[in-house]
Amino acid sequence: MQIAIVLGTRPEIIKMSPVIRECRSKKLDYFILHTGQHYSYNLDKVFFEQLDLPQPKYNLGVGSGTHAEETAKMLIGISEVLLQESCDIVLVQGDTNSVLAGALTASKLHIKVGHVEAGLRSYDRQMPEEINRTLTDHCSDYLFAPTDKAKSILLGEGISQDKIFVTGNTIVDAVYQNVEIAKGRGDILADHKLTAGRYCLVTLHRQENVDNRARFASALEGLSMVSAELHMPVVYPIHPRSRKMMNHFNLKYEGIELIEPIDFLSFLQLEANARVILTDSGGVQEESCILKIPCVTLRDSTERPETIEIGANVLAGTSPQKILTCVQEMLVRKNNWRNPFGDGKAGKRIVKIIMEGKHG
Ligand code: UD1
Ligand code: UDP
Repeated sequence: MQIAIVLGTRPEIIKMSPVIRECRSKKLDYFILHTGQHYSYNLDKVFFEQLDLPQPKYNLGVGSGTHAEETAKMLIGISEVLLQESCDIVLVQGDTNSVLAGALTASKLHIKVGHVEAGLRSYDRQMPEEINRTLTDHCSDYLFAPTDKAKSILLGEGISQDKIFVTGNTIVDAVYQNVEIAKGRGDILADHKLTAGRYCLVTLHRQENVDNRARFASALEGLSMVSAELHMPVVYPIHPRSRKMMNHFNLKYEGIELIEPIDFLSFLQLEANARVILTDSGGVQEESCILKIPCVTLRDSTERPETIEIGANVLAGTSPQKILTCVQEMLVRKNNWRNPFGDGKAGKRIVKIIMEGKHG
């Protein structure tokens, strides 16, 4: 059986890494097809190097553009590769344009599709990720749901029970496999003059937040208020989309330390030692929950409701006062919740299910 792993962005590389490692350790016939959606060193190659992943056999070099440009170029490029290879299954992970393109191309060529992290819904169709993940689920043959809740969402949308497998989320595998290694590495806290438990960590890059001047400005004002009230630095490894839009809107901010996007091991260290994490990222909501650091989500909805239900996360949106109130609320929460995303063996489970050909 030949497996094609299609990926294209930072979170896909990180969350596919446990599946790739399992394919390698089992000496399976597989290859990586990179769409090239992310291409800057610190959003792409740094993760292949640090996580010791094999180089992609193909890189389509699609780059940035409108949703239509990115997706259309990917459909053509992925189709050319799949037509010349003889794959039995295409694996995709998450909800980016690369994911939708991989799933759609494979399903039109009658190649089985496995969707890792299936069944997540924010129920906000304004988010491009919601469209991508919903359509991907509905053209997949194997739906690897991270939780029982995700499975019940899929069942509710009429997807056959035979196709759904609750595996846990591969982000738990990635965190467990790397958090100990991260501790022994260079000290990112010292590099930025930070003290454990005495800083806030921020990521903010989603289109609905940073491409909207009012929302982005409002979130930055909230972050400045948090820094002032808590007398703590707010560290923000800034995604290039956000940097571009911050310059475009000429936004000002105070008390926020902007740094370049960093490698995964350094970022895990920053997360594990933060007093609180503020984010609009999907992966960062999960990681803060796994690492038992309180999270404030700078969005109006989340497709990770498990984190809210167990008390690990709260939705703040982008109003400055609400952000501050949510941070204050999370600072007094007990962080004794149980991680709802699995035991760190999702990658192994996914590969086993595919190899056993359970359904399809
Ligand atoms: C994409 C995903 C988003 C995910 C994020 C992970 C979609 C619709 N969105 O958003 O769900 O959370 O990746 O980080 O697929 N850029 C660079 N270097 C790069 C890549 C992008 O500078 O390597 C800049 C470009 O200015 C580009 C902008 O970032 O226009 C946006 O890139 P794009 O890939 O379209 O979307 P992301 O915001 O990265
Ligand atoms: N991440 C990283 N360096 C950074 C910021 C994030 O390694 O500077 C990692 C983080 O640990 C998580 C992933 O990137 O695993 C999340 O990706 P992102 O926020 O870009 O996408 P999303 O999860 O929102 O789709």
